[in-house]
Amino acid sequence: MSLLIKNGTIVTSVNEFQGDIYIEDGKFKEIGTKLDVKADKVVDASGKFVFPGGVDEHVHYGSFGGRLFETTDAAAVGGTTTIMDFAPQDKDVPLLEAIRRQAAKAENVACVDYGFHGIIMDPKDSVFEEIEHLPEVGVSSLKLFMAYKGTSFYSDDESILKAMMLAKKFGITMMVHAENADMIAVLQKYYLDQGKTDPVYHYYSRPPVAEDEATSRAIYLAKMADCPLFVVHVSTKGAMEAIRDAHIAGQPVFGETCTHYLTLTTDCLAKPDFEGAKYVCSPPLRPQLHQDALWEAVREGWLIGVGSDHCALDGGYEITKKKGMGNFAKIPNGCPGVQDRLVLLWTYGVLKGKITRQKFVDLACTTPAKMSGLYPRKGLIAVGSDADVVVFDPDFKGTITNATSLHGIDYSPFEGFPIQGRPELVFLRGKLVAEKGKFVGEKGKGEWVRSKPYALCYDYYKLQEKLP
Ligand code: URP
Ligand code: ZN
Ligand code: ZN
Repeated sequence: MSLLIKNGTIVTSVNEFQGDIYIEDGKFKEIGTKLDVKADKVVDASGKFVFPGGVDEHVHYGSFGGRLFETTDAAAVGGTTTIMDFAPQDKDVPLLEAIRRQAAKAENVACVDYGFHGIIMDPKDSVFEEIEHLPEVGVSSLKLFMAYKGTSFYSDDESILKAMMLAKKFGITMMVHAENADMIAVLQKYYLDQGKTDPVYHYYSRPPVAEDEATSRAIYLAKMADCPLFVVHVSTKGAMEAIRDAHIAGQPVFGETCTHYLTLTTDCLAKPDFEGAKYVCSPPLRPQLHQDALWEAVREGWLIGVGSDHCALDGGYEITKKKGMGNFAKIPNGCPGVQDRLVLLWTYGVLKGKITRQKFVDLACTTPAKMSGLYPRKGLIAVGSDADVVVFDPDFKGTITNATSLHGIDYSPFEGFPIQGRPELVFLRGKLVAEKGKFVGEKGKGEWVRSKPYALCYDYYKLQEKLP
């Protein structure tokens, strides 16, 4: 099966040009102008932009109460052809086995390609010994949670430091969820004791300083371990500045932010009649000044990716109300967003003049692939890479609404958001999977893409010749 996409404006993370793309057997075969090749199918992309398929480095399918992989058609429709999921670890289940179990849930179900980040949740010696074997199952990153005290997700500094000291020996990217768990526990009790139970207290009990402190601490731990660090879902100006300053000082510290921190603010949590619960995620949505700083950070390269942190809570708003009414600390955490990541970044970033089109591709496709150890197979349009490609219509005008969202729950945090531009055609390894907001592929055809160790966060490390 071959495909020719003609006359599009091809946008990569470094350039933009008018051209044609020829695809054969699921791979990019030729890129050029006025290609003289015969193909089974020809697409005229005149007036359209042509990007690599989106790579979302931060999604949750199944963990944290999120819906499972059958709802990954939402990613395809939104122009994301590869997702990096987090594999949770149950007690007494070895780390590698936890990854295999999560992968089994995706197999023959996922609609886009997928890979995994590991999570250490059962910090015993045998689990740390498994770190060096992660690449054998195609995993090259580990997330540890400094937050969620009282749950199995929480890790103390000792575990984080131990993991970092081992991870760096084998090229495993260490990721942290940076919020000070003790500060949060004290503040949650403080507000609940006063009868302050509404969703907005989710924000007050997780103030910016809790994230700023934990981010700085993680950076110090990484410095002590001499280990590269990737801070996930950065939401505050202070945390971003700590990452930026460490990076400028020569420490290999990197971070991402997420679509919702770039488009929503704390005001959403204050919506009346418990409506704010729809916006509960951790770290929480922040006041405008943080959002402004995050846009500056992605533009300047101080934060290198934009993930969705997609977590469509099974049961939606109904379950949120049931669990969290009367106690904000019990509201399940997480918001859907995988479908909306590209259009939001385009509408509120590119079209508002905050980022260039190349930066858009870099933040949403190329760098996420690099940091996840999937590059150059994913995240770029180049001969030999997987033919994951989006033909993007810049003239489409619409509104985000849950009615056309495929994430499988009863609300969208972006309900009513005007958008301009949308993925008109989305190809996964050369096959059409989405057209004008509809999934048209075959479900379950997503494949597990194995991540390679020594991914982007190790680049400086390599230059400094610190590898074993
Ligand atoms: O609220 C969120 N972000 N839910 C998913 C879990 C996490 O911490 O990434
Ligand atoms: Zn997290
Ligand atoms: Zn997350």
